[in-house]
Amino acid sequence: MSCVVCRCSVVSIRAAHVSGRVGSLHRTCTAVPLGDIPVRSRLYSSRDETWDGDSVMSGIISSPNGIDVAGMRKAYKAGHEAFTEDELVSKEPIGQFAAWFKVASEQDSIGEANAMTLATASKEGRPSARMVLLKGYDKEGFKFYTNYESRKGKELIDNPHAALCFYWEILSRSVRIEGPVERLTEEESTKYFHSRPPTSQIGAVVSHQSTVIESRDVLTSKDNELKEKYLSTGLAIPKPNYWGGFQGHP
Ligand SMILES: Cc1cc2nc3c(=O)[nH]c(=O)nc-3n(C[C@H](O)[C@H](O)[C@H](O)COP(=O)(O)O)c2cc1C
Repeated sequence: MSCVVCRCSVVSIRAAHVSGRVGSLHRTCTAVPLGDIPVRSRLYSSRDETWDGDSVMSGIISSPNGIDVAGMRKAYKAGHEAFTEDELVSKEPIGQFAAWFKVASEQDSIGEANAMTLATASKEGRPSARMVLLKGYDKEGFKFYTNYESRKGKELIDNPHAALCFYWEILSRSVRIEGPVERLTEEESTKYFHSRPPTSQIGAVVSHQSTVIESRDVLTSKDNELKEKYLSTGLAIPKPNYWGGFQGHP
C-alpha cells in the first residue's frame, strides 16, 4: 500500500481524509501540511494507537521535520508492575546504587553503564550539563575525571556543587545524585591518569576542552607529535596539571 500523498510505501498507515481524498496516509509523511489532515486523523500518535487529543488541542504536536514529537511515548509498566519499596535490596542508597549498577553493567545493550549526566552551575547560578563517565564510587562519593580548565571544571571550582544523573532506559531505571564536590588529590588523579591507555593519556594532554581550536590539523599534529615522543620510546606521559578528578558527595 502506498501513501496517498507522497506515494512512498507505507510502513505504518491509517485511514485519512486528505484534501478531499480518502485513503491511506503515511503517518509521518512530511509531504502533508498538517493543516491538510483533518483533526480527527491527527489525534493518534505515530508510535502507537493511543489517543493524543490533549497534545493536539494544546497545539504542541509539531517539529520542523514532521516528527510527531508530542506523540512519542512508550507504554510504561502498569501500576501493579511498578517498582515498590519492598524490592529495594538496600535501604542505604549506595548499596542500592551498587546493585542497580551491577545489573546495568551486565547488559550487553547498555554500551556504557557508567555514562552519566553531570550538571554544574556558574557562580551566578547559570546551569550547564554534559555527559561524563563514572570512574569509581563508594560511600564517600562518585568520581569522574576531566579537564579542570573546561567549563565544567571551572564551574566546579567556582561553585563546588553538582548533580549527577544515570538513565538506563532498558531497565527503566534512573538514579539522581546531588551534593557538594571536591577535587581529588593530585596523587589519586595521577594514579588514575597512568592507568589509562597511553593514547587516552595523550588525548587528555592534547584536549583543551571548552576552548575554540585553531583547526583539526593543529590538534592532529600535536597528537602525532606526542605519540612519536612517548609511544615509541615508552617514556612516561606526565599528567598535565589541568587534568584530574572530582568527587561528588551524595
Ligand atoms: C558518553 C560520554 C562520556 C564522556 N565522558 C567524559 C569524561 O569522563 N570526562 C570529560 O571531561 N568529558 C567527557 N565527555 C565529553 C563531555 O560530555 C563534554 O563534551 C566535554 O567534557 C566538554 O564539556 P564542558 O565544555 O561542559 O566542560 C563525554 C562525552 C560523552 C558523550
